[in-house]
Amino acid sequence: MAAGSAGRLAIAIWPCQSAPVLAKDSAPAAAQKALVIAVDGPAASGKGTIARALARHFGLPHMDTGLLYRQVALNLWRWGGDPGNEFEALRACHELGVDASDPELRSEPVSRIASAVSAYPGVRAALLERQQDFAGQPRGAVLDGRDIGTVIAPDADVKLFVTAAPEIRAKRRMGELLARGMPSHYDDVLLDIRARDGRDSHRDIAPLKPAEDAIVLDTTELDVDGAVAEAIRLVEERLAAA
Ligand code: CDP
Repeated sequence: MAAGSAGRLAIAIWPCQSAPVLAKDSAPAAAQKALVIAVDGPAASGKGTIARALARHFGLPHMDTGLLYRQVALNLWRWGGDPGNEFEALRACHELGVDASDPELRSEPVSRIASAVSAYPGVRAALLERQQDFAGQPRGAVLDGRDIGTVIAPDADVKLFVTAAPEIRAKRRMGELLARGMPSHYDDVLLDIRARDGRDSHRDIAPLKPAEDAIVLDTTELDVDGAVAEAIRLVEERLAAA
């Protein structure tokens, strides 16, 4: 943790205490068996909302793993690094501190760069251990991303693959961006979502795809409350059957 200002240092500690989405479990080990829930899916499918709600419902810590890739992308962007150069992308992973409150993390350029750099094996390897450590906490955890059920936590107790039609996802992402003061055009957002789907699904390493034992939850016709209720029902059903 040598480099950076004191302000940077404060956010470079893992887990990041100021970022609830990355809050690691600090409670003492409970006697109960660990519960690990993997939530994967494409951009703006609702997986983040669902993962946060599941974490609240089951009293588990939650990690939004997309923030790791976004922070790498943001570092690279701010340094003027080349997303087409794996070596530069790897440098952006060094001593990665995640500031989940930084609005730039969710900007469209950063989303595009995150999708590009996440295809590099070195970048994925650099971020693997902290995700697996998080999943391995005594009480368990909820993690959301693209490869949680397939790579990060292949033994997760429950795996959800959350999806929705691209047009619906584009509308949801527009709403999110607007709420963050970043208005956007529907056609641009839809194009970006389709491009990211293509890159995330067709990369050689850890492509976006449902794990064989994942439950697919299509949220196209569901509002937030409906999607969350259905996710809780599916998890409880899977746990009861186990
Ligand atoms: O919120 P959204 O679904 O748009 O994206 P995100 O989950 O924040 O992830 C941003 C980008 O990081 C994705 O487009 C993926 O390319 C990449 N990512 C990944 O490769 N693996 C993960 N476990 C999480 C994100």
